[in-house]
Amino acid sequence: ADEPLILGIETSCDETGVGIVRGHTLLADAVASSVAEHARFGGVVPEVASRAHLEAIVPTMRRALDDAGVTLADIDAIAVTAGPGLAGALLVGVAAAKGYALAAEKPVYGVNHLAAHVAVDTLEHGPLPEPAIALLVSGGHSSLLQVDDLATGVIPLGATIDDAAGEAFDKVARLLGLPFPGGPPIDREARAGDAGAIAFPRGLTAPKDLVAHRFDFSFSGLKTAVARWVEAKQRAGEPVPVADVAASFQEAVCDVLTRKAIDACRDRGIETMVIGGGVAANSRLRAMAEERAAKYGITVRVPRPKLCTDNGAMVAALGSHLVASGVAPSRLDLPADSAMPL
Ligand code: KG4
Ligand code: ZN
Repeated sequence: ADEPLILGIETSCDETGVGIVRGHTLLADAVASSVAEHARFGGVVPEVASRAHLEAIVPTMRRALDDAGVTLADIDAIAVTAGPGLAGALLVGVAAAKGYALAAEKPVYGVNHLAAHVAVDTLEHGPLPEPAIALLVSGGHSSLLQVDDLATGVIPLGATIDDAAGEAFDKVARLLGLPFPGGPPIDREARAGDAGAIAFPRGLTAPKDLVAHRFDFSFSGLKTAVARWVEAKQRAGEPVPVADVAASFQEAVCDVLTRKAIDACRDRGIETMVIGGGVAANSRLRAMAEERAAKYGITVRVPRPKLCTDNGAMVAALGSHLVASGVAPSRLDLPADSAMPL
C-alpha cells in the first residue's frame, strides 16, 4: 500500500472498461463490449454504443472493484478517457468519472485515449524507455507517435489519411464473407494462404508520398484494390481464393505499418517501438515487426492482446503515470472532446 491506487474508465468506442492499477501492477481489468450489437451493421453504431455504455458502466465498475478487492474509498485518483472517440460514448465515461470522483472526494484526470494505448504497455513490460516510437493501430485510429515523455510529451508523427488499419481489415473481411470484426478471421484465414499470391498496393510508399506523407498511412486504395480483384474473380465465375486474398492483403498492411514505424525509429535514432490497438493482436504484424526491427537493433514491445484492445486498465496505467509524474488533476468540469489532440 505504498504507491497510489488508480482507477481508469474507458468508454470512447464500443468497450466499457474499468481498470484498477497500483504503480505498474494490474489489479483489475473489467470490460463489457457491445461489439455483438454492432456486428449486423458491419461497424460501430454510435447511438447503440452510448446506450450500451450507460447500461454497462455501473456493473463494470462494481466488477472491477470486486476483482481488485477494494472499495471506492480506497481509490486515490480516477482517470477517464476524455477523447478522442465517439462524443456520446465519451460523455458516459466522463460523467461517471466525475460522479464517482465527487462522491469519493478524489481527483479526476481526463486523459487521451491514444496516450493510454501506449501507457498500457508499462503494465506488461514495466517503465517505457523514452524516447520511444508508438504505432497505434485499431478500428478507429492508425497513428505513429513519438513518445518523448509519456506524461507530457507524446507527439504525433503521422496518421491515416482515410481508413484506419482495423477498418480495412473489417471491410476486406466483409468482401470475403468473413464475420465482423474482420481482423481475427483474416488473421486465421491468412495462415493457410500465400502472402505473395497477389501484389496489392502499399499506400503512401511511392517516393513522392514519402515527402509529404512520410509517416502517414492510407488504406482505402488497398481496400478498393482487393474489392476489384475479388469482383473480377466473381465475374469470371471463378472461386475466390479466400486464404490467398487474406494473406496478401494482410501482408500489404503489415508491410507498410512496420516499414514506416521502423523508418521513424531510424530517422530519430530511437531504439524502442511500442505497438498497440486491436490490430496489434495480428500475428503477422507482431512477427514482421520483430523480424525487421531486430535488423536495426530496435526492441519491439507489444502487450498481450487483451491489453491491446480498448480497456480501462490502459486508462488507469496512464493515470498512474500522471500521478507519479506530479501532473495536476483536471477540473471537475472537464469536457469530453471527440477530437482531442495529443
Ligand atoms: O482497439 P480495438 O479493440 O477498438 C478500436 O477500434 O478502438 O480495435 C478493434 C480493431 C478491429 O478493426 C479488428 O478487426 C482489429 O482491431 N483486430 C485485428 C485483429 N484482432 C482485432 N486486426 C488484425 N488482426 C487481428 N488479429
Ligand atoms: Zn483504442
